[in-house]
Amino acid sequence: PLVGSGELVAEARASGRGVAAFNVITLEHAEAIAAGAEAAGVPAILQISENAVRFHGGRLAPVAAAAAAVARASGASLALHLDHVESPGLLRAAPEAGFGSVMFDASKLPYDRNVAATAEAVRFGRAHGMWVEAELGRIGGKPGDGEPGDGESGEARGTLDAHAPGVRTDPAEAAAYVAATGVDALAVAVGSSHAMTERTAVLDHALIGELREAVPVPLVLHGSSGVPDGELRRAVAAGMTKINVGTALNTAFTGAVRAYLAQDARTVDPRRYLLPAREAMAQTVAAFLKVVGG
Ligand code: G3H
Ligand code: ZN
Repeated sequence: PLVGSGELVAEARASGRGVAAFNVITLEHAEAIAAGAEAAGVPAILQISENAVRFHGGRLAPVAAAAAAVARASGASLALHLDHVESPGLLRAAPEAGFGSVMFDASKLPYDRNVAATAEAVRFGRAHGMWVEAELGRIGGKPGDGEPGDGESGEARGTLDAHAPGVRTDPAEAAAYVAATGVDALAVAVGSSHAMTERTAVLDHALIGELREAVPVPLVLHGSSGVPDGELRRAVAAGMTKINVGTALNTAFTGAVRAYLAQDARTVDPRRYLLPAREAMAQTVAAFLKVVGG
C-alpha cells in the first residue's frame, strides 16, 4: 500500500531503526523497489528527484503516477517522496501529483537565504499536508550539480570545493536552522557524498551523535550508496533515520544490462536486458533494507 513518508520515518525512529529511500528513474526502478521491500519484509520510500523529473521532459505527473500505482499494488508499505526540489514550481506541483512528502533543497544558498526559502517551502507544505525535509551543509556530488543535466558528479569533474565529502553540518547551526524553518527532517553532511560507485565513505560518527543531541527532528543521510554496511549500521544506531540510496540501484541496473548485452549482441527486445536489470536492483534494495531497517 501507499503510505506517508512521515509515518514511516516516525515509526523507524520510534523503534531505533532506519528507513531507506530509493531513487526512481524508470518504471523498472519502482518495480524493483517494491519487489525488494516485499522480499525483505521492510517498508521503503520511493523518491523521485527533480533531476529525474527533468529527464522525463519536466513532466512530474506521469512518473509520479507510475510510482504511486506500483506502491498501491505492492504488499509492502511504500511512500512517495519528491527529492532534491530546487524549483518552487515543482514544489507547488507536488501535492496534486500525489506526494505526501518533499525534500526542498536550498543547500546551495547562503544560510540566511536557505532559511528564508525553506521556511516558505515549509509553509506551503503544511498548507498541503506534506512532510518537508531540507538540507543544511551541502552534501554535494549530485548529478547536475555543475552544468544542468550533465549527469556527472562534482567529484568526477574534479570540482571538490563545496562538493567535497569533507563538508560538515555544524550542530548548533543545525538546531537554529530547524527552529527557524520548522522542517520535519534534516539532511546533514557527515562524510557521505552523492554518486559514489564504490562503498568507501567514512562517516563522522562523533558528529552524528552531536547532531542527534542538538536536533529535535529525524536526520537524513544522503549519498548512502557510497557508505559501507557497517558504517550504515553505526549511523542508524547513532540516530540517523532516513537513508537515501540512488546510485547503487543504477550500478546494479547498468551492470546487469552490460553483462546481458555482452553475451547477446543480437537482441532488440529491451525486456531481455531490463528483466535482469530489474532483478539486480531488487536484490540491491533488499540488501540495503536489511541493513538499514531490519
Ligand atoms: O537524494 C538522493 C540520495 O542522496 C542518493 O545518493 O545516489 O549517492 O546514493 P546516492
Ligand atoms: Zn541526495
